[in-house]
Amino acid sequence: MNKLTIGLFGFGTVGAGLYTVLQKSKTVDAQIKRICIKNPDKRRNIDAKYFTSNAEDILGDPEINLVVELIDNAAAAYDIVKTALQRGKSVVSGNKAMLAEHMTEMIALQQKHNVALLYDASACGSIPVIRNLEEYYDNDLLTSVTGILNGSSNYILSKIFNEGETYSNALKQAQELGFAESNPSFDVDGYDSLYKLVILTLHAFGVIIPPSEVFNFGISNLAECDIRYAREKGRKIKLVARVGKTEDNNITLYVMPRMLTPDLYIYSVEDEYNGVVIRGQFYDKQFMFGKGAGGLPTGSAVLSDITARFHDYRYEYKKFCTPNPPKYVTDNLVTVYLRYRNVSDFEHFRFVEISEKYTSSEFCYVVGKISINNLLSIKSLLPTLDVFLATMCS
Ligand code: HSE
Repeated sequence: MNKLTIGLFGFGTVGAGLYTVLQKSKTVDAQIKRICIKNPDKRRNIDAKYFTSNAEDILGDPEINLVVELIDNAAAAYDIVKTALQRGKSVVSGNKAMLAEHMTEMIALQQKHNVALLYDASACGSIPVIRNLEEYYDNDLLTSVTGILNGSSNYILSKIFNEGETYSNALKQAQELGFAESNPSFDVDGYDSLYKLVILTLHAFGVIIPPSEVFNFGISNLAECDIRYAREKGRKIKLVARVGKTEDNNITLYVMPRMLTPDLYIYSVEDEYNGVVIRGQFYDKQFMFGKGAGGLPTGSAVLSDITARFHDYRYEYKKFCTPNPPKYVTDNLVTVYLRYRNVSDFEHFRFVEISEKYTSSEFCYVVGKISINNLLSIKSLLPTLDVFLATMCS
């Protein structure tokens, strides 16, 4: 491509970060022409001539050949991205919720209109994990991808474990620093990690799984007794997403807090950093580490997508197009720590084996094996229960 003329949607943390990193980039001939924002009255320190509140000023401008979508409203992002692709404009998007929910349609739109949709910035901020999974691991015997995919919850857990900060203060800091989503429940309840995991699963294993069919549980119920338990066992709690092959070559995935031992790479991933461990049959493990949230790191990832587009790169979805992709299965067992206070809450969990049990008047816990199916069957009930759940496996 000779020159990219960009129409940008959104000028929040990441949009402003992109604007800054683009000013410093000399290698790509790309310029922002218009920026579409929701609130025209908000003060911004770049020239007002860039701004519009009318999406058509971008989508209907024939000179604009790349739409960059960095808004946090998934429904609005869907309309923008779909319209842009239908009108023959390639798109860079950071909207993991929209991508995870509409991936099948997004792939079809790219094929039908012969355009590209790039979204490396949507998962793990500055870590180039999607393009690597898509390209480098193409013919490899990949066995699992496990990682800390959410910077905000990792920041909160780091502050709690390393600095004795309270949960609510740490969350407030994550919001002030621009790491958290506008609805922070997305971060702390594991939805952000879930959407990212669904995207990584497509590029790792070629399978699109609806987010609603995947188990996610976050850190918002974390209590002092859970932190104490982890410390006594020499572990740290982190919010971890995992997709891995099962023994019969299918795949299983989930997002849950995990009690990590110090020998694991992701044990040392702190603050808003993310870390991804990629395992394969012949190379054991590889580790990718970098800032997962924040305007400039994520803006750099968006710039990398823009540069990739400048060189006509597109995802080919090679694994998705293979004849026999693995199946998503949920009948496997995981070892979990379950803390509860009421027996009636505990009764929803069907443990197949219990290896540790503690009861007191304040709280109780068990450590044991439970099936993902059981957890999925009570997924919608969990937010109403006073329980905390974390996997124990390494
Ligand atoms: N809220 C997200 C996070 C931003 O904390 O990781 C980056 O996707």
